[in-house]
Amino acid sequence: MSELQAKRILITGGAGLVGSQIADLLVRENNPEIIIFDNFVRGRRENLSGAMANGRVQIVTGDIRDSKLVHEVMQGIDLVFHQAAIRITQCAEEPRLALEVLADGTFNVLEAAVAAKVKKVVAASSPRYMVSLRSSPRPKSTTLTITARFTARQRSSTKDFCEAFMKCTGWTM
Ligand SMILES: NC(=O)c1ccc[n+]([C@@H]2O[C@H](COP(=O)([O-])OP(=O)(O)OC[C@H]3O[C@@H](n4cnc5c(N)ncnc54)[C@H](O)[C@@H]3O)[C@@H](O)[C@H]2O)c1
Repeated sequence: MSELQAKRILITGGAGLVGSQIADLLVRENNPEIIIFDNFVRGRRENLSGAMANGRVQIVTGDIRDSKLVHEVMQGIDLVFHQAAIRITQCAEEPRLALEVLADGTFNVLEAAVAAKVKKVVAASSPRYMVSLRSSPRPKSTTLTITARFTARQRSSTKDFCEAFMKCTGWTM
């Protein structure tokens, strides 16, 4: 991460497992200013106790579905790590929420990043979803459910959004 030389970094879902570890690594490597953006449905402040100790990590409680707030928090950001997501079991239980968070929420983050002239966005994916999408959907040979496929589609649309924004902005993977 050191080659990125970012001064002000936004981590969506930064209080979660992966996001908080990214924060720890960034603090250790080049100590930038870090904004954690999380609605705390699953994330924990305790996950950030190490990173918070340096005084350059700020927490903003908010939801990536809130486009206005995402645009506000994006101001002056150089680099985004987009980690906000709901867990796969919740996607199955609440498919509309999955659509709103994984698809609309990701779109909000990417749109706001372009508007704020962010240099790079690193978005989470999961090989599990991609494998699900590529699996044969024959009912007798697979345990893939409709909700799992739906979730995989949301993940796929996240990837499609990222690729579309990359093509339009010149961002690199
Ligand atoms: N943990 C793994 O082993 C693993 C492996 C591969 C991919 N991933 C992917 O990495 C990403 C992060 O995974 P994780 O394990 O850290 O998950 P996590 O649940 O620990 O973290 C996700 C964070 O997003 C926050 N969040 C959820 N909905 C939000 C919303 N609407 N607005 C703002 N914040 C919201 C949660 O509160 C949580 O802090 C996910 O996209 C996941 O699919 C994780």
